[in-house]
Amino acid sequence: MTKRVALVTGGMGGLGEAICIKLAELGDAVVTTYSPGNTKYREWLSTMNNMGYGFRAFPCDVTDFDSAHACIEAVTKEVGPIDVLVNNAGITRDMTFKKMTKDDWDAVIHTNLDSVFNMTKQVMDGMVERKWGRVINVASVNGQKGAFGQTNYSAAKAGMHGFTKALALEVAKRGVTVNTISPGYIGTKMVTAIPQEILDSKILPQIPVSRLGKPEEIAGLVAYLASEEAAFLTGANISINGGQHMY
Ligand code: CAA
Repeated sequence: MTKRVALVTGGMGGLGEAICIKLAELGDAVVTTYSPGNTKYREWLSTMNNMGYGFRAFPCDVTDFDSAHACIEAVTKEVGPIDVLVNNAGITRDMTFKKMTKDDWDAVIHTNLDSVFNMTKQVMDGMVERKWGRVINVASVNGQKGAFGQTNYSAAKAGMHGFTKALALEVAKRGVTVNTISPGYIGTKMVTAIPQEILDSKILPQIPVSRLGKPEEIAGLVAYLASEEAAFLTGANISINGGQHMY
């Protein structure tokens, strides 16, 4: 059987790396993106290679439609058509609304939400033609419940799920599923960047499981959604948050 091609945006580190590893372990040819100009990708590829993972990485500014187009064209030519797209790239610019500038708003909306259109647009026609595809949008518990200091991030993550539901309807008959996952607080750099005092006093007490999640726990869910068995699951927003928000 030919390998499926899985593209994970923002795959170097955090959740993305765990997702790349899991999909590779299940037999996919895994490709990730890096921001043009970021030279650290070589080091990451080599570390992964030493661990036995032959990932490929392509430059892509996910906020830019033309860059997304060029990236997908190159991946398709060099690796093959994309079967699984994981829209994982994301940033935070946390601050209260009072302090938030237009630039802080735009940066988060462009990276976390416009990117979903930019990337999905490049792969959807091919998935529909081949009658098989999986799109998995990585949102957040904070898109479901809101979060202090995250008007930009919560708006973008909630927007992702609106996109998911609408597109899932349009392609349901074509063998393509589109889903959102909404992780809670996972032990990645994005979360450990939160001031410790805020983490201890405001966030951890809200998590019934009493700990941060592990990237591997999120990767396991992505792998399931990407699998053949998940063909009947579409348009969903799956919460994976240690019980922090029961939606
Ligand atoms: N809930 C309620 N009140 C909060 C709060 C919260 N989560 N966070 C801060 N506050 C309160 C503080 O207690 C403080 O109150 P007082 O003025 O009464 O003392 C007030 O807000 C101001 O707090 P700061 O001094 O921290 O203000 P700041 O302007 O320096 O920073 C902030 C504000 C940037 C929002 C900072 O509090 C922060 O980083 N909070 C964490 C935001 C967060 O949870 N981000 C999630 C990142 S992880 C992620 O996004 C991944 C994912 O998908 C889950």
